[in-house]
Amino acid sequence: MKRILVTAELPGAGFRKILSEGGFEFKILSNEERLSMRKAVVDFQPHGIVTLLSDAVDSALIDSIPDLEVVSNYAAGYNNIDTAHCRAKGISVTNTPDVLTDATADIAMMLILMASRRASESERFTRAGLFNGWKPDLFLGKSLAGKTLGILGLGRIGYATAFRAKAFGMEIIYWSDRKAPENIENSIKARFCGFDELIKSSDVISLHLPYIPALHHLIGKKELSEMKKDVVIVNTARGQLIDEDALASALAQKRVFAAGFDVYEREPLINEKLYGLENAVLLPHIGSATEETRAEMAVMALSDCIAVLNGKKPLNKVN
Ligand code: GLV
Ligand code: GLV
Repeated sequence: MKRILVTAELPGAGFRKILSEGGFEFKILSNEERLSMRKAVVDFQPHGIVTLLSDAVDSALIDSIPDLEVVSNYAAGYNNIDTAHCRAKGISVTNTPDVLTDATADIAMMLILMASRRASESERFTRAGLFNGWKPDLFLGKSLAGKTLGILGLGRIGYATAFRAKAFGMEIIYWSDRKAPENIENSIKARFCGFDELIKSSDVISLHLPYIPALHHLIGKKELSEMKKDVVIVNTARGQLIDEDALASALAQKRVFAAGFDVYEREPLINEKLYGLENAVLLPHIGSATEETRAEMAVMALSDCIAVLNGKKPLNKVN
């Protein structure tokens, strides 16, 4: 009997049901076992493994599981996995796109609103009992209508975020690896532009790119210095796309009006400076965190894992 290891308990009944019906020997790591995930994996010697985005699946781990056939990542991003090494060894890697598009775009839009309207800061103020009456200048933020939203990466999530922002009256420009089809552009009146133009002319910038080493610190000191003063920056993609230290400085200097973070450069470590900044909105990587989405992701990741082990084609192979 082939063995499947899931590196954490996942939400939703569907996932448990499939596991128990699948004709596989399976193991789900407990929180305690997760602490020594690598050892648990090597001890179990799985044929298929369902991993979290915080699990580093590097060549050493891959080489220590000789019968491994598939790594199914419980995420859209898969930069935690050495996909090239898997490919060289004939190991499939799969992910969970699409089902998390709306949930993640909701969080991107929420962060755009929260950062622009100083939501976290004003909520902290209220909870501290400091609200003692309406004032003309209490927590003035930035309007969104008529402003330009620069989307870095017009994939599914980038598009879904732009679609939402359009309803708030924003103008959309985007930079991506390629120009989107005209019907996509027309549906949100989006204009394809160069990276430099996007950096210089956006009022709000939202990141929706995968992390690859070529995009390390895509937003760094130089880019921050070229942005409009009072720009708002939101990152729901991957932390390493931004030089977090440089952004913290720009926030402290109020060159950047506010920033919304769902992801961090050295996750789960957060740059200490950010904690002290009122204009930083800090979320704990909850882009896809709805009950519905996380349950669908679990079924999708496990189904693809089982498909490969049964010699079938997985839906979402990425390598
Ligand atoms: C979440 O960050 C994902 O990539 O799914
Ligand atoms: C993720 O699935 C994306 O395409 O943005």
